[in-house]
Order: sequence, then C-alpha cells, then structure tokens
Amino acid sequence: MPTRTIIEPFRIHSVEPLRMTTEAERRDALAAAGYNLFALRAEDVLIDLLTDSGTGAMSSEQWAGIQRGDEAYAGSPSWFRFEAAVKELFPFPHVIPTHQGRAAEKILMAAIGGPGKGVPNNTHFDTTRANVEAVGAEAVDLVIPEGLDPALEHPFKGNMDLARLEALLRERAQDVPAVFMTITNNSGGGQPVALENLRGVRALCDRYRVPLMLDACRFAENAWFIRERESGHGERDVADIVRDIAALADGMTMSAKKDGLANIGGWLAVRDDELAARCRNLLILTEGFPTYGGLAGRDLDAIAQGLKEVVEHDYLRYRVRSTWYLGEGLHRAGVPVMRPVGGHAVYLDARRLLPHVPPLEYPGQALAVALYEAGGIRSCEIGTVMFGRHPDGSETPAALDLVRLAIPRRTYTQSHVDYVIEVCDEVAERAGGLRGYRITQEPPALRHFTARFEPLAS
Ligand code: F0G
Repeated sequence: MPTRTIIEPFRIHSVEPLRMTTEAERRDALAAAGYNLFALRAEDVLIDLLTDSGTGAMSSEQWAGIQRGDEAYAGSPSWFRFEAAVKELFPFPHVIPTHQGRAAEKILMAAIGGPGKGVPNNTHFDTTRANVEAVGAEAVDLVIPEGLDPALEHPFKGNMDLARLEALLRERAQDVPAVFMTITNNSGGGQPVALENLRGVRALCDRYRVPLMLDACRFAENAWFIRERESGHGERDVADIVRDIAALADGMTMSAKKDGLANIGGWLAVRDDELAARCRNLLILTEGFPTYGGLAGRDLDAIAQGLKEVVEHDYLRYRVRSTWYLGEGLHRAGVPVMRPVGGHAVYLDARRLLPHVPPLEYPGQALAVALYEAGGIRSCEIGTVMFGRHPDGSETPAALDLVRLAIPRRTYTQSHVDYVIEVCDEVAERAGGLRGYRITQEPPALRHFTARFEPLAS
C-alpha cells in the first residue's frame, strides 16, 4: 500500500474567525494577566492549545442531539439515551451524571476518602490530586520509571509500576479505598496504559481486596494505542477494547469534555450498589437529580452521540496521527518533546530547553509565556507551577517541567499546526535568552489557575 496522507475525516460546516494580534498587543495582554495564560481573554489568543477539554468541535449529529434534548427534570429521554451510550462501552450497573469530571471525583472522594487514606494512581491529574487531598487523603503517583524520562521511547509510558503498587498494598491495603488508573496518563505526557498492565493492577487489587477505578477521560485514545501497539489487538474493534478495559474495573470517573466529544459533562460509574446510593445522595446535594446531574438534557444527548463517534476508527486514526504530526514536526526541528507523542497533546520539555532556568524559577511558565508572546499560542505549564506547592506549604521542583500543547478535537487544520511548529521552532532557537519567573500572588491550592507572576530580571 502506498502511504497516503491521513486526512481529517470531516469537512467544515461552520467557522469561527480567529483574531490576529500584534506582538506589542500580546505583551500588554500578558502584563495585564500577571503572566498567567489562564487570565488572558480568549479573543487575544490565536491558536488556543490550553486544553483539549470541552474545546472541540461537535458534529452535525451532535448539534441535532442538542435540538432533540428533552429538559424534563426527571426521567428525560435524553437521560436514557445518555445512560445507554455510556453502558454500551462501560457496562457498569450505576451511571451517575455530573457536570464535569471533577464533580465525579469530588463525590467519589467524599464517599471513600478521608484522613489516613492513601490513593495510588499512575499519575493524578491536578483536580484529582486536589480532590484526594481536599478530604485529607494522600495522593500517591506510581507510574513506571520510564514514564518519568521524557526522551525515552516506550509504547506504554502510562503503565503503573506494579512492584511499587504491590509494596504499597502490602504495607497499607486497609488504608487504600481504591486504586486509580488514568487512561491516558495526562499529567505524565498523555501516555497510554497497556491492557496487560491493567490486568496486572486488577490482579493486585483482587489479591488485596481493593477496588480498581478508572479516570477514563481519554479512554478511546488509550484503546486506539492498545490496538496499534499491544500485540494481539491490531485487528480489533476499539469499542471491544474499551469494553475489555471496563471489565477490569469496579468503576470510573469521566470528563465527557474529552473523549465524550462534548463541551461539558461527565459521569461517575460504579458496580457497588451501596457506594452508588451514597454517591447519588451526595450528587443531589450539589449537582442535581440523578437523571441529569449538573447537565441540561441537551448536553446528555450531545454526549450520547459523541460516545458513538469517538470510537470510530477513522476518527481515532486521524486524531492520533494529527497529534503525532505536531510532535514529529517539533522533534524534527530539534525542539525537545516528550516521546513518544501522546494522544491528545504534545509536551515540550521545558527543563531541557531552558537548562539555565532552575525549576523554582518555572522554566515551563517562561516557555509558555514566550510562545504566546511570539505567536499568540496559548499552552499550559505542567510542572513546578502546577505541582510544586504542597499541602504543608513547602515547595519543591515537580518531577518534570513540561509545556503542554493540547489539541482540541476536530478543531484546527494542518496549516494551523504548521504555524505552531514554526513559532515553537523560532522560540526554541532563542531559548537561551528566556528568563524565569517569580510568583507574586497564589491561592492555597491549584495555584496555576490564578497565580500572578513577575518576570525575573535578566
Ligand atoms: N482527569 C483527567 C485525567 C483530566 O485530564 C481532567 C481534566 C480531569 C480528570 C477533570 O475533568 O475538567 O471535566 O473536571 N483535564 C483538563 C485538561 C482540564 O486540561 O487536561 P474536568
């Protein structure tokens, strides 16, 4: 077969204008935002790679679902379509809708967490860690050592370190309310977890009688990587691989803003009847009645349709290949990126690109600010700003200082991506001149969202 360009498996139906800005305008915008890219006005951003969460384009069938949405308070047909679509892939007996992923995390942690508990995960996402810590429990990251080396090639860098998980369970299984697996491993570079590794985690959970929960935001991308990289799965339907993953777990938290292909939504699903009852009671307190959670009926329909589209092979082939295209372009240009390229994002290795900026002067922040200033590209620091501050008030360097270029689903074209490669290349050329930052103001938790910064003098 001759190699052919893998094209977007859709054409554009409605468009949103992008606003061009000058470098001087962007410098002013940065100063006004306290050098925090979360504080920018989105209209001042040209290519928005801050997140792949809720920022994708919906299909015409999803918009049709929005019209079909039924806003009955209880027992809406939209709810039943949503529940059926979730159970088609994740046949857990109890599906509890929430307005987004972190609401599911908060409810679950309120039900199972607490002081003295420890929650292992391959790597906690920031909100997951914050929700574990908010109930006084300890969040423990146990990804394989390969997952912490950005340059290393490995097919499943999101895998759990089974030996360390076993050691933890041997010591204190009674304190562990659940083991979590984040698929794909967002904070560790969007790297997938192998089915074999999930089976290994399941075996340990069985041995120590601890439930296994999935943080399944990017389950379809993870299943596609299993199809591409794990032997014996190359000819399989991705939906079947997803069901295999679900069969290994006792429940899941989900943000439908990622592989639900929707702009809002999420859910918590569990097998255990008693746990489900407790979670539903908490849901009613803060999210809403159990057949809508925090969502409008129309959102439930958009997610139901999104879950059908996200496991289509043409979509996933394009999705993973187009992310790879960005990563490969940067790699070829000599910009250090986390290898191999993940499913939803490309991660620049800021610590390696800016070796003259120590972690506590935030090399990731320096690089992210420079990309915005140079080309209007908004990215997200995933490093010492995000993970450096601890509940006891101390500050230490994060394991990695990365800058994430997250790709909204079905949103940007190849020429947008070519432009991003050019801007990154140009900034990387003069990386030696970039200076670090100092934090002038920060909240007690999740500081990256609202902290203000000041550039350090050169
Ligand atoms: N878990 C993972 C692995 C995530 O990536 C996210 C969100 C959540 C949980 C929480 O879901 O946003 O719907 O409340 N990640 C987004 C991101 C925000 O940019 O990576 P949420």
